[in-house]
Formats: sequence, structure tokens, C-alpha cells
Amino acid sequence: SAVDRGNHRHFMEKEIYEQPEAISRTMSRYIDFAELKSKPIDGSIDFSAIDRLTMSACGTAFYAGVVGKYWFERYARLPVEIDIASEFRYREMPLGPRDAAMFISQSGETADTLASLRYCKDNGLPIGAVVNVQESTIAREANAIFPTLAGIEVGVASTKAFTAQLTVLASLSIIAGRQRGTIDDAREAELCQALVEIPGLMTKALNEIQPQIEKLAQELSHYKHVLYLGRGTSFPLAMEGALKLKEISYIHAEGYAAGELKHGPIALIDEKMPVIVIAPYDAVFAKTVSNMQEVAARGGRIILITDAEGAAAADMETMATLVVPKVPEIAAPIVYSAPIQLLAYHTAVFMGTDVDQPRNLAKSVTVE
Ligand code: G6P
Repeated sequence: SAVDRGNHRHFMEKEIYEQPEAISRTMSRYIDFAELKSKPIDGSIDFSAIDRLTMSACGTAFYAGVVGKYWFERYARLPVEIDIASEFRYREMPLGPRDAAMFISQSGETADTLASLRYCKDNGLPIGAVVNVQESTIAREANAIFPTLAGIEVGVASTKAFTAQLTVLASLSIIAGRQRGTIDDAREAELCQALVEIPGLMTKALNEIQPQIEKLAQELSHYKHVLYLGRGTSFPLAMEGALKLKEISYIHAEGYAAGELKHGPIALIDEKMPVIVIAPYDAVFAKTVSNMQEVAARGGRIILITDAEGAAAADMETMATLVVPKVPEIAAPIVYSAPIQLLAYHTAVFMGTDVDQPRNLAKSVTVE
């Protein structure tokens, strides 16, 4: 094949470690690293001419889109609708002249995502596509292509394509903010600086977590259920973390918004279901700590993924605390992907599953 595993046991592992480079290559397409400014994009999508962005995707690409929603709304003050493509295509969403649509797909061939694209096209919307395979059907049918330059991804469980999608969406949220006048020169430079730091922070995160992760993964492999919690952009990351774990280790996992804990999942908490909490030391950190206390009070075992400040501020007994570098707000979901992916990967290795080709799953789902 065109790519090989190099020194890695699996393509997934190789692709996890390729991320700093894939992110940097992708980012250079949208951000001028020297000037700390966004670059011009395809004019067929004009963010200043729309009142709403409709996104749709499947699987991991969907979770990238959910993170994107938080960014577009925060930085560009642009309302975003996001839905799973298999739901969007049939729910007959009303669309108007001040809407644009964006589809996210690694392969560019996912049947439900393509059908959603065609629905929006038939309704006259300008179509943007965040795609990794640039010769794909979704890329061909879009008006504006926003490529992820992740390179070929072989592992069925998406890793570098996901963080490349996040990179594109973060960049586009800055570009949209410029076009809509919600971001000035200074803010643009600050956000671009934060993005430019990501590849280095990702490398640091991967290296610093490595010594702890195998032992933790071995422990995790003895459990049957795992709950992931997060707030803000860590919420979609919690869902992505749960997806990664179930896809390759076959351990049942669920991702929840931390604030929803008391509306259901708290009933499940006991010592047999570890709770993985994704919580950078940010504006919602204290809220997440309250949820952790609710878990601890019921005998739940916590794996906390945070930074040094968060670890100190949480001041709690945990099953493990994974400390990642301190990151700017916009960089968090990308850098925190590293521990999420490594934990799923090493757990699956301990379980002895076929990591690159998990049972019943396909890399690209081209039938409905
Ligand atoms: C399949 C793959 C996932 C992927 C999803 C969407 O389920 O196993 O890894 O996230 O399809 O694929 P796409 O190519 O549209 O991103």
C-alpha cells in the first residue's frame, strides 16, 4: 500500500503521533504563521452574508462539528445548527436565503452526509465541505472546499483526520469572525497565536502522558462501562472519547455533558464504572469540579484529564490524573484529543482487539 506502519504496532498509533505535523500542515492553509492573520478563503461562502450555518456529518466528523458550533458562535457570533447527517437528511429542516451549509467528512463519501449536502444544494444554499479526500464526491459537489491535510488515514477509528477537522473549523471561526466584524486585528493575532502553538503543545501532551497511559489503560481494560464527562468544548470531546473507546476496545462508553450528570447517569455511578472527566482549567472548571464531587460522593472512580492548575485546584482523590500542558481556550479540544485517543488505543491493545480494523465497522460508510 501507499503508506506503511513504520515503527508503530498499528496505523492508529502512527496516525496519533502524526498529528502535530498534520495539524501544522492543515493550519498553514488557513493561517499566516508569520503575520498571525487568517488567509483569504474561497469566496463562495461569505460568512458576513448569512444568519445561520447548518452543519451535518457522521461519527467522529459529527463531534468535530459540535466543537465547531461552540467556536463559530463564540468567536464569530454566528448561530450554528448541527445534526447527525442520517437525521438531517429526512427531517425537512426549513432553509432560507441567509443560510449556508457545511459538511464534514474524512472520506467525502459517507452516504448520509452526501444526501444532506444534496438536500441543502436543492434548497439553494452555498455549500462548504471540510474533507480529507479532495477527489471525493462531497468535495466535487461542494461550492467551497476546506481541505484537511491529514494525509491518508488508514485506522478505522479516526484520529488525525479529527484533529485536522478541528483545526479547519477553528481557523474558519476566526475567518468568519473577521468577515462578520466580531474579531478585530488584535483579537485575530491572539487567536492565531493560540492556534500556532497547538502542534508544539500536542507533541508535549503526547510525550508527557505516555509514561502514565499504559498502566492506566491496563486498569481500564478490566471495566465493562465507562462514562466520559465534559463541559463546553470538552462535552463533544467527551462524546468523541467514548466513541473511540467503544469502537476499538468494545467497552461500553458514553459521553455526557457534565451538567447532565444529575439528570440520569448519576444513577449508574458506582465503583464499577470509571468516570473520565475532561476539564481544562477554564471558565467552567469549577462547575465540572462540583460534578466530580457528586461522582466521588457516590463511590465513583475518577480519571481526571486536566492541566497543572486544574489538578491543583480540583484537590481530589482520583484513580488517575492525566496532566496535559496549559493551553489557550481555543486549543483545548485539539490538545486534549491526545490523552483521549491514547487511552482508547492502549486499552484496546490490552484487550487484544483488532485496533485498525475493529469488528463490524467500516472506514467509510457509503451505503445508508
Ligand atoms: C465511519 C468511520 C468513522 C467516521 C465516520 C464518518 O463510521 O468508522 O471513523 O468518523 O464513518 O466518516 P467520514 O468519512 O464521513 O468522516
